[in-house]
Amino acid sequence: MDNLENKELEQTLVLIKPDALKNSLTGYMLSQLSEFHTGLRFAGIKVVKVTRMLAEEHYLEHQGKVFFPSLLEYLTGCDHYPDEPEKRRVIALVYQGPDAILKTRAIIGPTNPHVARDTKPGCIRALGTLVPITDASGNVVTQRMDNLIHGSANPTDAEREVKLWFKPEDLPAAMRAFPTKISEDYYYFNNNQLSAKYEAGAVCLAAPGDMLWKSDLEVLHLLAEKRPAPYSLQAVAAKYLINRE
Ligand code: RTP
Ligand code: MG
Repeated sequence: MDNLENKELEQTLVLIKPDALKNSLTGYMLSQLSEFHTGLRFAGIKVVKVTRMLAEEHYLEHQGKVFFPSLLEYLTGCDHYPDEPEKRRVIALVYQGPDAILKTRAIIGPTNPHVARDTKPGCIRALGTLVPITDASGNVVTQRMDNLIHGSANPTDAEREVKLWFKPEDLPAAMRAFPTKISEDYYYFNNNQLSAKYEAGAVCLAAPGDMLWKSDLEVLHLLAEKRPAPYSLQAVAAKYLINRE
């Protein structure tokens, strides 16, 4: 977190969500967030087929809420591309620069697209929609907010989210805001478990010489010793599973 005190290095994670891709709003949104408008620079960008694991980790704070299942369906692209799984994607971006989090959130606007239209016309989310969610009897229990775009809410979330979606080597060395460390061990992810040995189907999270986020490596080290860790194995593994299948 020390690095975040350096204003030039402040980063935020932005997600262009499946509804924005479906409605061809990507170019518009990138223009709104361009360096000319915000003074922010791209630090990272990737096209991601979002797994359920990644969606769950991303929106961990909302686990247990009534809208959580619909939120996962939304972010994984299942809602907007029910019959075309190959089109289920989001575009993940890291923007960097002074006040990256606040500047980005201001252009994005309020969470609820109707509130966005009423209180901040012209913001990106003013173009979003609300979708009623019904229970088995057809009663409306909540609403899904198809609000086109995500932006990290605060520096703690931004660090967690950038590390959740991007490996250190996805960002140019000079634009890495968080500490990294070289692994001296093998760590594999297999059937939701951590293992030091390769078996068929395992995903390699780290081999000796690989660069990881320092906090991820610490989590792997603690979990390998069956000690409590500050975050879960899934939160480390999710980005290593991106676009594998
Ligand atoms: P985001 O994380 O996507 O940038 O949105 P946010 O900070 O503005 O809002 P947050 O409270 O984190 O909510 C995350 C996403 O959950 C959906 N939501 N639905 N039905 C509801 O009451 C409700 N509240 C939130 C939205 O899709 C929101 O983007
Ligand atoms: Mg949020």
